[in-house]
Amino acid sequence: MSRIHVDHKDIAKFADERVNLPKQKADEYRAQVRRLREKLETHLSENPTFSLRKMILSGSLAKGTALRSLNDIDVACYVSGSNAPQDISELLKYIAERLRRAFPNLTPDQVKPQTYSITISFKGSGLDVDIVPIIYNGDPQWYGNLVSQEDGSFLKTSIPLHIEFIRTRKKKQEKDFAQVIRLVKFWARRLKNENPDFRFKSFMIEMILSHLLDKGCDFSDYPEALQHFFTYIATSDVREKIIFEDFYKASTVGLFSEPIQIIDPVNEKNNVASLYSSAQADAIVAAALDAGDAIDAALSATTKEKTVYYWQKVFGTTFQV
Ligand SMILES: Nc1ncnc2c1ncn2[C@@H]1O[C@H](COP(=O)(O)OP(=O)(O)OP(=O)(O)O)[C@@H](O)[C@H]1O
Ligand SMILES: [Mg+2]
Repeated sequence: MSRIHVDHKDIAKFADERVNLPKQKADEYRAQVRRLREKLETHLSENPTFSLRKMILSGSLAKGTALRSLNDIDVACYVSGSNAPQDISELLKYIAERLRRAFPNLTPDQVKPQTYSITISFKGSGLDVDIVPIIYNGDPQWYGNLVSQEDGSFLKTSIPLHIEFIRTRKKKQEKDFAQVIRLVKFWARRLKNENPDFRFKSFMIEMILSHLLDKGCDFSDYPEALQHFFTYIATSDVREKIIFEDFYKASTVGLFSEPIQIIDPVNEKNNVASLYSSAQADAIVAAALDAGDAIDAALSATTKEKTVYYWQKVFGTTFQV
């Protein structure tokens, strides 16, 4: 393998400069959410029967896997199930109205129902906050029915347990696991920008990399770790069923009929990839093959120009050394 022109440290530097959300920004956004959460807590202490029970940071900012291109902050909002409307658009209106009550300093138009979530927009500073509802009936592990951001269906899951799942694995390969997640997400993000039909959800990427970590894959060398990921996708055809035993036994997982089967680590009945078609799976495999070939070519290229050219096939022209 030729590593003269681009090596692990060059990928690490590229990640720092172009891929990762800078820590200062992440801290700022987390503080923004903390202020909302605390305001809700104050409102709840004064109105104990209020139906919005809790807000927590979910998504990549909570997991420490956010990209520099982050464009909104995901927050899960637990809504008491007793009086909440079943119909999704009614539910969003119901929540929006209560968010306005809990945050009276916001103007009504700063709180807007979208298709499957509600955005709170902040003029001037800060990013928009995307509020994702979870219908909640008091479960101590914070299981609830999450409104799917893909199709508005209800998914039984637990965001805090997902965060715990990722944290446990981040500890096993400090820095490197999260970094490889961000690099792969960056690769997928670029493909999505180029082709709106290409789909590869961040959560699926995290679960596939978690599976590789559990199998003993070493993430400390980024070119090699990326190659592991792309090779796994290609050789499994993304059709290998992925199961984790953190929260249930593999024997309790039933049969699924969808082409990609990545079972939610906290709910054995939920296939995280249930909405992916066979054609979409094939597109992921084809893209992984291309990326794998490009990395192979980069690692055996003899000039710096050619090496960079091949890495750019993976990461785009922002990749420079
Ligand atoms: N199909 C699903 N089933 C269960 N939980 C899900 C599902 N999709 C998303 N989630 C939950 O929502 C969280 C955020 O989803 P996702 O991974 O797609 O976005 P993200 O981590 O914020 O990444 P991005 O940087 O692309 O915004 C996940 O960590 C998971 O807790
Ligand atoms: Mg997100």
